[in-house]
Amino acid sequence: MTSTIEFLYSTFKEENIEVETSIQVDEFLVLGNRSQLQQVLLNIFKNAVDAMENSKIKKLSIQISAADDNLSFTLVDTGHGVNEDIKSQILDPFFTTKDVGKGSGLGLSISQSIVSKMGGETSIRTAENSGAKVEIKLPKHS
Ligand SMILES: Nc1ncnc2c1ncn2[C@@H]1O[C@H](COP(=O)(O)OP(=O)(O)OP(=O)(O)O)[C@@H](O)[C@H]1O
Ligand SMILES: [Mg+2]
Repeated sequence: MTSTIEFLYSTFKEENIEVETSIQVDEFLVLGNRSQLQQVLLNIFKNAVDAMENSKIKKLSIQISAADDNLSFTLVDTGHGVNEDIKSQILDPFFTTKDVGKGSGLGLSISQSIVSKMGGETSIRTAENSGAKVEIKLPKHS
């Protein structure tokens, strides 16, 4: 997880995005496919970066913590957010608000299915013009 985040730092810099990271876990094993988990993270980061394209304040807060045998990964952005109508559709396959050729609309639906196969949960809180908060919870591997 941290290596994927480090890999993205140059993109954040290019886009003038301020990043605040809080990692409160030393080591936490989750069961799953590494590249699939990277795919999940890359998509939610890309969504956040895209959403902040025209934002005055561009800030990403990344939090990784552990609670009740779950690893929780939270990403908060200061992007355009989505309104109630759109919110109910963002997890649907092929739903996208991006221009043709820019987004397939599969990112979140694939991410959600990867996370749920790992026994985890995805939740998204967002409102129009108020950014978005995406939380992924993954169970600890015992
Ligand atoms: N952080 C976010 N802030 C605002 N809107 C978001 C955010 N994340 C997702 N969305 C909305 O949800 C839609 C679906 O997201 P999803 O990742 O599934 O597809 P996409 O990003 O459009 O395409 P792809 O992931 O294939 O590049 C986006 O088009 C966008 O409207
Ligand atoms: Mg996407």
